[in-house]
Amino acid sequence: MDNHNNIHSLEAKFEAKIDSEIKIEPKDWMPESYRKTLIRQISQHAHSEVVGMLPEGNWILRAPSLRRKVALLAKVQDEAGHGLYLYSAAETLGISREELYQQLLTGKAKYSSIFNYPTLSWADIGAIGWLVDGAAIMNQVMLTRTSYGPYARAMVRICKEESFHQRQGYEILISLSRGNAEQKKMLQDAMDRWWWPALMMFGPHDSASTHSEQSIKWKIKRKSNDELRQDFIDATVLQANYLGVNIPDPKLKWNEERGHYDFGDIDWEEFWNVVNGNGPCNKQRIKDRKKAYEGGEWVREAAMAHAEKRAKRKEEKVA
Ligand code: 3HC
Repeated sequence: MDNHNNIHSLEAKFEAKIDSEIKIEPKDWMPESYRKTLIRQISQHAHSEVVGMLPEGNWILRAPSLRRKVALLAKVQDEAGHGLYLYSAAETLGISREELYQQLLTGKAKYSSIFNYPTLSWADIGAIGWLVDGAAIMNQVMLTRTSYGPYARAMVRICKEESFHQRQGYEILISLSRGNAEQKKMLQDAMDRWWWPALMMFGPHDSASTHSEQSIKWKIKRKSNDELRQDFIDATVLQANYLGVNIPDPKLKWNEERGHYDFGDIDWEEFWNVVNGNGPCNKQRIKDRKKAYEGGEWVREAAMAHAEKRAKRKEEKVA
């Protein structure tokens, strides 16, 4: 069979697997563009988890009680683990961890815009858990059904841990909503600053999305950016009402006909400004990641030396 027909039959087998909901595994043949877009999305997801530790880490030493500190420590530690699962899933596609790190540190790879905003008060830690992890859950539950096996399986454990993240954040805000006037003001200030950037996490509108159409065809995405954003808004408004906090969108209104909340226009200029590196904390985030990478050089060297020594010992045993 000549090469052209051979590729054609491989593509047909790949499409048949996708259509019949059979997971694509690392050793399976896949179109180069499928592999490329998965490396792009999974690595950016991993970068988001690791960079996401920074805004929260800022409050570990300032947590108002030991209980809050322990919960925040556990959450930040989970995020590191999520980054590990996702970097490992990306490596199954034939890219090295080192290359992934360099893509982040050189600014070649993106991470979620949301982590370029500062955490100015303790209420922000609650808002991140409730809104940011809440938005991440909406997206990640959908990704448990993504067509690439290692990515889907990484999502199962990540989603279980994210639900704890969202609950602990919401509980922080319930305490503040029942607190004094100053605490209620802190809560509303955090809501005002985190609501719109949380909606931006779902990406541009479907009409402006570069990858959605193909990603939905390949069942990498099972829902579009706008569908997930709408699901998030519909689920979150009632939670905001319970907190007695005002959502900073005068156009937010239940639309009986649509069966969804109508909402105002997202500031896409702000979004692309942040995505393109000009957000409030972009430079600081990369600076912190570079410092952590350089500071961890000795750990990587020791681990590699240990691994080489073990491999050599194993070889000597076999010989
Ligand atoms: N921040 C930064 N870049 C974004 C973005 C955001 N919020 N939304 C979209 N983009 C980028 C895309 O990466 C793409 O750029 P690229 O071609 O250079 O990769 C461009 O904008 C066009 O967007 P598309 O809609 O075409 O891109 P996708 O089809 O990839 O959809 C996505 C974007 C919905 C974010 C998708 O990539 C996705 O589902 N990623 C996995 C989930 C994820 O990364 N979540 C980030 C948060 S993780 C988190 O919050 C951890 C929690 O524990 C706190």
